[in-house]
Amino acid sequence: MKTLIIYKSIHHGNTKKIAEVMAGELGADLTELEQAKNYNFAVYDLIGLGSGIYMWRHHKTLLKFIDELPNMSKNAFVFSTSGAGMNDILKNHKKLKEKLTAKGFNLVGDFTCLGWDSVGPLKLVGGLNKDRPNEEDFQSARNFANSLKTNP
Ligand SMILES: Cc1cc2nc3c(=O)[nH]c(=O)nc-3n(C[C@H](O)[C@H](O)[C@H](O)COP(=O)(O)O)c2cc1C
Repeated sequence: MKTLIIYKSIHHGNTKKIAEVMAGELGADLTELEQAKNYNFAVYDLIGLGSGIYMWRHHKTLLKFIDELPNMSKNAFVFSTSGAGMNDILKNHKKLKEKLTAKGFNLVGDFTCLGWDSVGPLKLVGGLNKDRPNEEDFQSARNFANSLKTNP
């Protein structure tokens, strides 16, 4: 299953770490969003897209990137790291998933976990979830990636 993983990770590199672990597990090609246009989506069976969550949604450049894609019927999964983790996954992933579905993507999974968050006043106390993602999160990401291998 040829997989491409695209990420945007601007705050502490939290989502980049998760993207790297998933790519390792899947033997996937991995790219930052800015270089994603250099990849030929046609050769991939599965595309993963993720970023940190900024104001309850994925990074705006990732959302814009989807807007500019042609329609394609391809399997895709969505991932993120955030200050709130699982608590807000439905709200946080909604916009990106809506856009992918509108472009014809078939969504096969979601993954999220906590990430170090030192936005705004949180900086003063060193931030929330300082040690996340941690080894347990990486293992969850590997398990998630493995579960995608059994998807048709
Ligand atoms: C500008 C900004 C806005 C954020 N908004 C949210 C938010 O709405 N909900 C949340 O749970 N975390 C929020 N966070 C925390 C990030 O989602 C979290 O730190 C994430 O792991 C960052 O990923 P990154 O290091 O890959 O950029 C925000 C962080 C920043 C910098």
